[in-house]
Amino acid sequence: MAEFEIALLPGDGIGPEIVRQAKLALEAVGSKWGHSFRFSTYLVGGAAIDELGKPITDETLAACQGADAVLLGAVGGPKWDRIDPAIRPEKALFGLRKGLGLFANLRPVKVFSALAPASSLKPDVIAGVDIMLVRELTGGLYFGEPRLRRKTQTGQEAVDTLSYTSEEILRLVRRGFELARGRKKKVTSVDKANVLATSQLWREITEKVAAEFPDVALEHLLVDNCAMQLVRRPSQFDVVVTENLFGDILSDEAAMLTGSIGMLPSASLGAGKAAMYEPIHGSAPDIAGQDKANPLATILSAAMMLRISFALEEEASAIEQAVEKVLAAGYRTADLYGENCQIVGTTKMGQLVLEAL
Ligand code: IPM
Ligand code: MG
Repeated sequence: MAEFEIALLPGDGIGPEIVRQAKLALEAVGSKWGHSFRFSTYLVGGAAIDELGKPITDETLAACQGADAVLLGAVGGPKWDRIDPAIRPEKALFGLRKGLGLFANLRPVKVFSALAPASSLKPDVIAGVDIMLVRELTGGLYFGEPRLRRKTQTGQEAVDTLSYTSEEILRLVRRGFELARGRKKKVTSVDKANVLATSQLWREITEKVAAEFPDVALEHLLVDNCAMQLVRRPSQFDVVVTENLFGDILSDEAAMLTGSIGMLPSASLGAGKAAMYEPIHGSAPDIAGQDKANPLATILSAAMMLRISFALEEEASAIEQAVEKVLAAGYRTADLYGENCQIVGTTKMGQLVLEAL
């Protein structure tokens, strides 16, 4: 019997509700296939600020480092909006990303056929969409120094720094090419090489990596054009590799192809075994605690965990198929519009997935 240690970080807002449903799904998989999942839960984000004085403690970080995988809900909310920027809830995310060395953020964008009508794009535009967006997660503007604000003679000035080393680009782009090998063998590298020095380096390094993968096709796309192509003809994409901020923006845009940002899971991976899984949506404080949140992105994140961290492909697919089945049967959470569909709450949606398993 395989044993796995999972650190749960429910976080804020809807985080605890959706993580609860994902945990139930993992437990169901455990009892069906005979694996033992051991869970430990830790506070992060606003919840940790309130209880422990900072968004993530060293003990929590160490526990996550020691776990076989981390499952995160979401962090942040209006309650902490005016807090000292140094301890904002989001800092928990950056601490985890940097602390665990999670440089590659995988955001798969796949349209469940039952949800095609919920997309804001026409069904023929989103037919066949299957994108793996690989976002660089520990560099770029999110971490660059200096980061400051200073007085000038006439007002103020703020500075963020966009910097990338060749090593940071290389390991991320290589991950994208490796993934493409198991898919449609096409990599689109997204940059702003007509303007930015970091993008020019990004392009050079990407060309070098491409030479190691002669079986994979490479195309370069400027980020503004990519934003347009994503809504014009999204089926042209297979693997997309891009820097941190571009990936942040493009992944929200790509998420909408699927009908709801509430459907998208993600995996953040590093060089070793450390890995964190989380839905790409936020903490939705406006609906927190009301049993309205869509737990599917978190449940699908648990499926990614089974596949990537634990190599349990059959179990991962079983969760994905269960989700597909529940959607096909017409059940929806409030965020997923659908004619003749039955709206259910967070708990009920989780329960339906368990039954379909
Ligand atoms: C994401 C989120 C975070 C990010 C926020 C909450 C800081 O938008 O994971 O995409 O920008 O990375
Ligand atoms: Mg984002």
